[in-house]
Amino acid sequence: MKILITGGRVVDPSRNVDRMADIIVADGKIAGMEETGCVSIRGFDRIVDASGCLVVPGLIDMHVHFREPGQEYKETIASGCAAAAAGGFTTVCCMPNTQPVLDSPESMQFIHRKAAEANGVRVLPAAAVTEGQLGLRLNDFRALKKAGAAAFSEDGRSVDDPAVMREAFRLAAEIGMPILDHTEQSELKDGGCMRRGSFSSRTGLPGIPPEAEPMIAIRDILLARETGAKLHLQHISSKLSLDLIRLAKQEWKMNITAETAPHYFTLIDENVIVGGGRRDIYHRSVSPKGVTVDSHRKMNPPLGTHNDRDAVIRAMLDGTLDVIATDHAPHSPQEKALPFAAAPFGVIGLETSFAVSYTEMVEKHGMEPMQLIRMMSTKPAEILNCGGGTLEGGSRADLAVIDVTREFEIPDRGFASKAENTPFAGMKVKGDVRMTMAGGRIIFEK
Ligand code: DOR
Ligand code: ZN
Repeated sequence: MKILITGGRVVDPSRNVDRMADIIVADGKIAGMEETGCVSIRGFDRIVDASGCLVVPGLIDMHVHFREPGQEYKETIASGCAAAAAGGFTTVCCMPNTQPVLDSPESMQFIHRKAAEANGVRVLPAAAVTEGQLGLRLNDFRALKKAGAAAFSEDGRSVDDPAVMREAFRLAAEIGMPILDHTEQSELKDGGCMRRGSFSSRTGLPGIPPEAEPMIAIRDILLARETGAKLHLQHISSKLSLDLIRLAKQEWKMNITAETAPHYFTLIDENVIVGGGRRDIYHRSVSPKGVTVDSHRKMNPPLGTHNDRDAVIRAMLDGTLDVIATDHAPHSPQEKALPFAAAPFGVIGLETSFAVSYTEMVEKHGMEPMQLIRMMSTKPAEILNCGGGTLEGGSRADLAVIDVTREFEIPDRGFASKAENTPFAGMKVKGDVRMTMAGGRIIFEK
């Protein structure tokens, strides 16, 4: 099978390429890159017209929740992979907070087996740090690595005991594996369901104090410094945490990395409130103080203040933040229809991440597309050491063709994901994924 992708703007951070060019794909691999229009179209099985489009390495999302095993009504590995392909992603790293928890070699094999039956998106499992994510006993890191774990993570919560976490860092460092770190001090969360501040006061909803995230961030930065472990901080949402990450990177010259998610650079705590909005939409409810609030804006960590959002944007532009991940967290409409305080934490993101990020960061804040693709593909590949993130000749043909000319509105349903809990419904964006290719095979097209 030989495919020509012609007329697009090729952006490949791995080789510092950003120019108009044609890409040749043959036998599942990138066979070459040529001047636009200089390749004869004879001999190709398929010509893809990429005019008006970016042609980029397949996107890599290093933070998703596919709910298999145990909660297949929310998402399966197959439906999650379909959502990934629709969003331009060819590799994802799935978190272990399933039922049961992904904490055994068998569970790693289960994910690999299910992924092999899906659409060709690579699914790399992150194994839990502790048995059952109970925070008490460490899992057998070596056995999990051998069974195909890509990283370790306790995502969904933090490991509360610093001594347990120190041992986890020590073992991970010994076998050269990254720890993807959910940073929230559980004891400080106090049953909160949105960021504590003037807007939680206005709603009467219990607040999560802003110190919860940076408290564990600094603890684990210190532990990584002591043990030499490869630390990657997940879904960073606050200015305080970013100040600490800067300290670690700039003053202490640490080799840590950090991610944020699209909702943290587009939305703020105020957006939990639907001012004057209709109340008859199932994910809206009335707060204790009579304010209409939207459970599709509820996630962990919670949306920050506008100062936090501005700090996240600055940190993305100056390189303090390395990665955009989605924290794709599907939940059912029935669950999100509960009153705000009772509804589960989490929002989906795979099918909107590129468009929201492109619109907010490139169009509005002047980020170079190269930097965006680095944060959404090349850098995650480097952290997970999993290949991909490049269009270099000879590499696996994982790529996406994305139209950045046409504006469209994000829908509130009809996703490839089983879930529809997006916080971005109604947002006008650019960055429509037209085609996704994995290993030279077209796995999504429209
Ligand atoms: O909002 C979230 N949802 N944050 C997490 O840490 C877990 C996730 C989930 O599993 O639903
Ligand atoms: Zn998560």
